[in-house]
Amino acid sequence: MVQSPQSAVPVRHARRRRYLMCRPTHFDVTYRINPWMDPSKPVDTDLAVTQWEKLRALYGELGHEVELIDPLPDCPDMVYAANGATVVDGKLLGARFRNEERAAEGPAYLAWFRDNGFEEVNEPEHVNEGEGDFLVAGSRILAGTGFRSSPRSHAEAEDFFGRPVISMELTDERYYHLDTAMAVLTDDEVMYNPAAFSPGSRAVLEELFPTAVLASPQDAAVFGLNAVSDGRHVVLPDAATGLARQLRERGFEPIGIDLTELLKGGGSAKCCTLEVRTPAA
Ligand code: ARG
Repeated sequence: MVQSPQSAVPVRHARRRRYLMCRPTHFDVTYRINPWMDPSKPVDTDLAVTQWEKLRALYGELGHEVELIDPLPDCPDMVYAANGATVVDGKLLGARFRNEERAAEGPAYLAWFRDNGFEEVNEPEHVNEGEGDFLVAGSRILAGTGFRSSPRSHAEAEDFFGRPVISMELTDERYYHLDTAMAVLTDDEVMYNPAAFSPGSRAVLEELFPTAVLASPQDAAVFGLNAVSDGRHVVLPDAATGLARQLRERGFEPIGIDLTELLKGGGSAKCCTLEVRTPAA
């Protein structure tokens, strides 16, 4: 992090990213596997597509590469691409979903990566919901458990990627994936919602990231932590105004986006975005 001469605000640099996304053509809320989902509430799939297209276009404007996987008709949650896999150094750990409703997505994402030339592919033994629970922060991987990914998948990821995996225990069912409770901003900076973690995990986070951005309950509840950072720009729900202000104070460029239709399934910007980390990137 480079300090600018006049002030203490750091100068931020974006790094070009490669993202995999899935158009919400078949998005719907037909079952309930997290507290945000209410199958009795109407879903406007066209609106979801429109909002998602804006996110996709935004990544293009920021200079990132976006690839698409075909949505499957029987997988209304497939738009949440972050759950499809974890890719580090071009190595791919497939996802294995906790809920039967999403089981078919794991093999579909795995097939996409195989079809696109990824050779180091690990079919998962233990339940893990991809980047929903695995967040790469520099040389380490922060890993969520408590609701979805099994703690055993943390050891599996550590073995496969050869990077230290630090387990984090989630305790509030509204923040059931790690990427709903925390976002990685740079290799060594994060923002998170302390109230979503067990006391032990909170202590670990304070130790690892003493200067982290902390989210208010209000910002957390609009999914403000479900954010995507390229090192400079941070794409997050536009309702998370407190987080946007804190990010600006630290030299980041927050970009608010409206993904409220996708929030009905319990996801926002980060959930819709799987980062494909190849060795060069
Ligand atoms: N309805 C989906 C589920 O509950 C939402 C997934 C959100 N994805 C995420 N990366 N947090 O599984």
